[in-house]
Amino acid sequence: MSYSEKVMEHFSNPRNMGEIEDASGVGTVGNAQCGDIMRVYLDIDEDGIVRDVKFKTFGCAAAVATSSMATELVKGKSIRDALQVTNKAVCEALDGLPPVKVHCSLLAEEAIHAALWDYAEKNGITIEGLEKPKSDIHEGEEEEDY
Ligand code: FES
Repeated sequence: MSYSEKVMEHFSNPRNMGEIEDASGVGTVGNAQCGDIMRVYLDIDEDGIVRDVKFKTFGCAAAVATSSMATELVKGKSIRDALQVTNKAVCEALDGLPPVKVHCSLLAEEAIHAALWDYAEKNGITIEGLEKPKSDIHEGEEEEDY
């Protein structure tokens, strides 16, 4: 298994690592299978633009690199555009991930969605196209009802 140079670069020098105090939305997701956890903090301004974003992760190299890239991709975007930052887009931006590591990139996407969900709930709004995120991305892989 080998990582692209971009993955290694984002892993060695992650962007937007940390936390935001009084964030507009915070989302935490985990993957029970590997035990990795990621938390994303969003700072969203009055116009619905992601002014700042930070993440914390307890995860593998791929999880760190994808969170770093995902936060770079959502920064400065509108909520609607931030929602379009899929794990596929993140993988592409990183020049791909080894197949066994693709699931790790789901953590970043789901954590961003969870943070947007939290923001929507706090503000009593609905974000079109956003579904209630799972807190454990592994659960849905075997069974839908929990
Ligand atoms: Fe768990 Fe990568 S092995 S997120």
